Amino acid sequence: MHTLTLPTSTTMLAWVCTRYGGTDVLRLRTLPRPVPGPRDVLVRVLAASVSSADMRVRTQKLPRGFGLLGRLAFGITRPRQPVLGTDVAGVVEAVGRAVTGFAPGDAVVGVAGVAMGGHAEYCLLPGTRPLVHKPARLSFVDAACLPFGGLAALHFLNKANLRAGESLLVIGAAGAVGSAMVQLARHRGAHVTAVCSGGNVALARALGAQAVIDYTEEDFTQDPQQWDVVADTVGASSFAACLPRLTEHGRYLAVAGSLAQVLARPRGTRRSIGGPAAERPEDLQTLMDLAQAGVLRPVLDCAYPFADLPAAHAYVETGRKRGAVVVALP
Ligand SMILES: NC(=O)c1ccc[n+]([C@@H]2O[C@H](COP(=O)([O-])OP(=O)(O)OC[C@H]3O[C@@H](n4cnc5c(N)ncnc54)[C@H](OP(=O)(O)O)[C@@H]3O)[C@@H](O)[C@H]2O)c1
Repeated sequence: MHTLTLPTSTTMLAWVCTRYGGTDVLRLRTLPRPVPGPRDVLVRVLAASVSSADMRVRTQKLPRGFGLLGRLAFGITRPRQPVLGTDVAGVVEAVGRAVTGFAPGDAVVGVAGVAMGGHAEYCLLPGTRPLVHKPARLSFVDAACLPFGGLAALHFLNKANLRAGESLLVIGAAGAVGSAMVQLARHRGAHVTAVCSGGNVALARALGAQAVIDYTEEDFTQDPQQWDVVADTVGASSFAACLPRLTEHGRYLAVAGSLAQVLARPRGTRRSIGGPAAERPEDLQTLMDLAQAGVLRPVLDCAYPFADLPAAHAYVETGRKRGAVVVALP
């Protein structure tokens, strides 16, 4: 447990990732509070997700083949952006003079995404980043659960052009991406089979999966059936291994795939889709509209106090979280 010292109005507390490594590289520091430029919005953070991306940046445990690319993207010896944190929910503190649509006091949800910076008392969101008003029915903590997994799930379902009546297999259905994908696919009218461990079967069914395969008991690659789309949200399979399980025009979604999976060439009429998910404002609005309508439910594993962010990181690193892990600020 870390002791918080109260900041002045020009400073803020932030968790700084001082270098790549274990959770001991995370240090609570007092930093200058960002000052919004003309198109920026400064958000007072009340909840922020601790995503698998935060954990991957800190540890540099990346899918096979991405090691060098990761260092080039995030910083060679330490993170170029030392304050991690991909998604925030909070209250607008200040807006730049060219900002329209947001005013101080508004409750919002924002995606710092690859630019990061959410694990702080204040997060600066440039005008190009997704930022929307928080749905009234969601708490700040629940709202912070949705963007990371939801945006990735929506992006890949759109890339696959999943249509009503098609079948989808979701590997990793209990994770942040998987739990959103099961719900979004059901909303599209797809038939969803979830793959998870026995302890998450009830969760997968509650999210809407019509069939569930417990991978500790059964290997889906040996299953006689085929699916129109196979989405691997945890990197537990390969395009080659899933080919026999894909229908004639089947699509394999390498959400967490190695470089080889991401670059895999089509095999006849079957293809693999990979790469980074887009972070589009309109997609964040879609997710929040679905949440407000009760169609997309946040899956919160655990909310930690901001002071316990290293413990949250350690839990995410187990690879066993259900849905999202969030840190909450007073
Ligand atoms: N391409 C992109 O732009 C993009 C965007 C977002 C995320 N990602 C990547 O997507 C991956 C998933 O992210 P996430 O946040 O959803 O992960 P996560 O929440 O950390 O995933 C944890 C879940 O994975 C499940 N799991 C672990 N091994 C499994 C296996 N062999 N088969 C089935 N389920 C398994 C666990 O459930 P059980 O206990 O039931 O096994 C656990 O609930 C990460 O690697 C992330 O980097 C990529």
